[in-house]
Amino acid sequence: MLNIREISELEKIRTPFYHYDMDLLDATLVSLTESAARHGIEVHYAVKANADERILKAISAKGIGADCVSGNEVLCAIRCGFPPEKTVFAGAGKTDEEIIHALEADIFAFNCESLQELKVLDALAGRLGVRAKVSLRINPNIDAHTHKYVTTGLYENKFGISAHDFDSAIILLRDCGNIDFNGLHFHVGSQITDVKEVFSLECRRASEVVEYFESAGFAVQNIDLGGGLGVDYENPDDAILPDFGLWFDTIDRHLKRRSGQRIHVEPGRSVVAQCGTLFTKVLYVKGGDTKTFLIVDAGMNDLIRPALYGAYHSIENVSASHRGASGEQVYDIVGPVCESSDVWGAGRVLPASVRGDLIAIRTAGAYGQVMSMRYNLRDCAGTVYSDRIGDAVTAVPPVAVSE
Ligand SMILES: Cc1ncc(COP(=O)(O)O)c(C=O)c1O
Repeated sequence: MLNIREISELEKIRTPFYHYDMDLLDATLVSLTESAARHGIEVHYAVKANADERILKAISAKGIGADCVSGNEVLCAIRCGFPPEKTVFAGAGKTDEEIIHALEADIFAFNCESLQELKVLDALAGRLGVRAKVSLRINPNIDAHTHKYVTTGLYENKFGISAHDFDSAIILLRDCGNIDFNGLHFHVGSQITDVKEVFSLECRRASEVVEYFESAGFAVQNIDLGGGLGVDYENPDDAILPDFGLWFDTIDRHLKRRSGQRIHVEPGRSVVAQCGTLFTKVLYVKGGDTKTFLIVDAGMNDLIRPALYGAYHSIENVSASHRGASGEQVYDIVGPVCESSDVWGAGRVLPASVRGDLIAIRTAGAYGQVMSMRYNLRDCAGTVYSDRIGDAVTAVPPVAVSE
């Protein structure tokens, strides 16, 4: 909840902009690292969720590792203070160039996604005269009960090595002269809200696969269970800190863990989603034949989740209380981009809104700014940190016209 002073400060800033609450990020990181330490779990932040350099530095300063899915993420993570020995690199389509850079950086593990990638890793490590530390990413064929675009652990998905390839992988690993087998990796999807059900299934399946590889003579020293913990998009203030404890308790209860084995997780969304808000201003209030549109100055190019996944974000008019507005109205809140999918929320009840009102699109810190683009040649949204509000670019006040 913003106070009046904070609202008047934010109203002066040029919109649209991403606002990051650095205190909330810190509180989330404290909760995550304390809970992980209690459970003996090692954390690698999934850089893909938000690769803002200040955010990465705040996360690496807590001693957390990095989970990357491109060569540039590996380089960026290391530049922002994540040690190579805590950096893992997944992705079904790693290029030779990306693999070479990561081998040169001597990262903790490649999470290898196919038999052919295993051969390429071996060949490139041999050519460089180094050893590649490799975990196999397993496709456990588990339904994460989430949106089909963020489900990654089913056989119909491109990720990981499935059971019918385990024996070939074992033969190949024995033949690869330049690979050190590091362990097994799993990641079944994102925005998982059936925490107990999905993660217990993942852990039981992981335990079976670990046993299979150990019975073939491979010591599985590292088990990486990926990310996926969901956040509350509907009521962000009710669950501002994700329940890391429930996730880790579920792992404790359902993963067979032998002594000395290291357990890793790769949360992204749950670390950064709630600390980010996309602020935008009302440009026009437009009465249509069947509905009233609030046309705002942030578009799908700034935050693509609603257009891409039909994702829900809580939307608030933060100026309304400041203005002492009375009454409510049903609006379709839409952006300026020339696509009919550029809709922030249809049929939303908001305080009666006017041109110039500041609107908050909540829970925008993950898969938001990092996925933005310049479609329609629109300018990129600005970035404002709660501890550096004074650095923000000031807005030109909108011209006043009658409602
Ligand atoms: C391999 C891997 N690990 C971790 C994550 C992070 O997931 P989340 O942001 O849901 O925690 C992802 C994202 O999909 C991923 O692909």
